[in-house]
Amino acid sequence: MGTEQDFWRERWQGHRTGWDLGGAHECLVPLLKLFAKVSLIESLGAPGPLRIYSPGCGRAHDGAAIVSRSIPLPPSLAARQIEVMATDFAPEAIDAAREIYGNLTGKGLSLAVEDARADVPVAEKQKFHVVFDRAMLCALRPDLRPAYLRACHDRLAPGGIFLSLPFTRIEDTPEHPPGSGPPFEISMANLETLMADHHFRLLAAEKVVVRRPDTIIKEEALTVFEAIKKRKKILTG
Ligand SMILES: C[S@@+](CC[C@H](N)C(=O)[O-])C[C@H]1O[C@@H](n2cnc3c(N)ncnc32)[C@H](O)[C@@H]1O
Repeated sequence: MGTEQDFWRERWQGHRTGWDLGGAHECLVPLLKLFAKVSLIESLGAPGPLRIYSPGCGRAHDGAAIVSRSIPLPPSLAARQIEVMATDFAPEAIDAAREIYGNLTGKGLSLAVEDARADVPVAEKQKFHVVFDRAMLCALRPDLRPAYLRACHDRLAPGGIFLSLPFTRIEDTPEHPPGSGPPFEISMANLETLMADHHFRLLAAEKVVVRRPDTIIKEEALTVFEAIKKRKKILTG
């Protein structure tokens, strides 16, 4: 049986990338607005640049839109110098991203092949202020999520923010029967519990009804979580 990485590489090699919107996600602007409303962007990592980690980035449209400022950014974000590190473990994805956005590398966008579930090297720990997740958590089988969330938490500086657009309702079809995936549906209640188990606290969430007729995704959510300190386990008895 092939590995997870083989599965995704085959999708890329076979040009089966139906999730790709060809540009920034339509929810990116409202998600960043919500982020600005509930967090103090001006103090995150200041006075240095705001560092964003974008795992499972595919063609990196969202990261590119942020660094190139081709979408309207909320004022507190627009005032910051921003660096985005966009990664994917399919080299084909990163090659495709380089082809489109190679001009932005060295101008705030970095692209790298990397497994977002792997242990985080010391130099990368607490390096980022924000994780941006679009269709990464929901691309993972539920048993693969804990390692991913642990790695994201490790990458975030204290008080860092996890921004996500989870698929909160997916239509069941013969090709996509209940519980199958990717993509995998996750309800808001289950997401909140999963994130709390991995030391993330929900700051804000907004439901979005998806109006694209070509997709089985029927509802997404804008979600903003804050990384909280891991509590030490106290051994008793
Ligand atoms: C559904 S696609 C979403 C791509 C992109 N975020 C977008 O919105 O267009 C999921 C992506 O995650 C990548 N991926 C899956 N598991 C990964 C992992 N463990 N580490 C890094 N990338 C991963 C896949 O190669 C694929 O490009």
